[in-house]
Amino acid sequence: MLAAIRSTLRFHRAPHAFLARVARESGDIGSFQLGRRQAFLVNHPDLIRAVLVDHADGFGRGYLMRRAKRLLGEGLLTSEGCAHRRQRRAIQPTLSRARIQEHAPEITEQVAVWRDRLTLGRPFDLLEEAAALTMEVIARQLFGVELGRDLDRLTRELAILTRWSPLIMLPRMELLERLPFFSRISQALDRLDVIVRSQIDAARRRGGRHIIAHLVGHGGFESDDRLRDEVVTLFMAGHDTTAASLAWTLILLARNRAVAERLRDDQSGRFADAVVRESLRLYPPAVRTGHRALRAMEIGGVSVPAGAMVFVSPYATQRDPRWFSDPDSFRPERWLDQPVPSPLTYFPFGFGRRSCVGEHFARAVLLAAVTKLTVDWRFELVGARLFAVRSFLTLKPARGTRMKPLAWD
Ligand code: HEM
Repeated sequence: MLAAIRSTLRFHRAPHAFLARVARESGDIGSFQLGRRQAFLVNHPDLIRAVLVDHADGFGRGYLMRRAKRLLGEGLLTSEGCAHRRQRRAIQPTLSRARIQEHAPEITEQVAVWRDRLTLGRPFDLLEEAAALTMEVIARQLFGVELGRDLDRLTRELAILTRWSPLIMLPRMELLERLPFFSRISQALDRLDVIVRSQIDAARRRGGRHIIAHLVGHGGFESDDRLRDEVVTLFMAGHDTTAASLAWTLILLARNRAVAERLRDDQSGRFADAVVRESLRLYPPAVRTGHRALRAMEIGGVSVPAGAMVFVSPYATQRDPRWFSDPDSFRPERWLDQPVPSPLTYFPFGFGRRSCVGEHFARAVLLAAVTKLTVDWRFELVGARLFAVRSFLTLKPARGTRMKPLAWD
């Protein structure tokens, strides 16, 4: 009983550290108690494949995802079965590699505008600024227009919802929301709905080639409620993760001057790509995905009962010395001179039928930022709150981490 409480608390306080420890201590498959449920971590490419591909039909969304419906409705992240397949077919083409490549110049331009807002030598709040950039880029790709004041309002509501999302995921949240403190969450949700629905209406009138116009014209969404869910899901799944990864990448570059210098001098794009890959290896914003066993099964010779949670953790696996030498060091060169490892030892965007649909988009934003920002400037961390990591939903640097741009000397 005590062990169960201890593992549950540790899992929720710092899932990345907890899962890395389970992996170290248990090898390919470890088990622990999560509340009243039994939970497993699989940490070998064959077993990860078993969960994400071979037995994918035997798993449903985790308990957290099911509670996230309060925020995300029946969007791509939370839906299951046929509805999920239908939605994925509608959304995937709007975020394909080819389409994102077409929009890469626009993304680079947005990064340049963002950079011009920063002042040389003046510290800025890393997470706030990274979030502002990713919000602007996603909003433009989704809606295809400058949102003006709507963007500020959207940013404000999403910041409130992201901040309080651990509370939104609490069981019985509907009851708590009647208390004055929690009503801020339902109010933010209501305001977010108004903005998103007005953008859906506008896209219907305007037409165009952006994501929302494609979804409105697709016909696979039976109502505006479903469209709303999809739009909110794309924002919630995309902006916080990409912002976190941008923040980690800038931190890693600030702490590894030689890498930043090489990036400045090598604008071929190949090294920038290696930097982004390596940053996503060390600090994958989604540290784990959880899969609920719909029936009893055997994985790696271990019996998994129905209802148990099975986790895979990019954070734990990507730091395993069996797959990556010197795994805790930031060494982008490893991506230049080594063959690409199995996609099941390196999967910051997940794998299989529920892998990230926003991968090309996130990579394009990160690549544009890494290339554009390091040509003229280097970045330095301000203060001592380094590497204080938070990871309940997304692996992030500590709130309030500040950074300042400096000229190369
Ligand atoms: C560095 C940035 C990102 C990372 C690390 C990331 C990671 C992931 C991971 C690991 C999953 C699988 C989740 C699971 O199985 O439970 C996922 C799913 C998803 N991601 Fe991302 N993501 C990122 C950016 C984005 C962006 C930019 C968008 C959209 C614009 C996006 C939209 C989604 C959606 C809709 C899903 C659900 C897919 C499905 O269930 O079919 N993500 N992401």
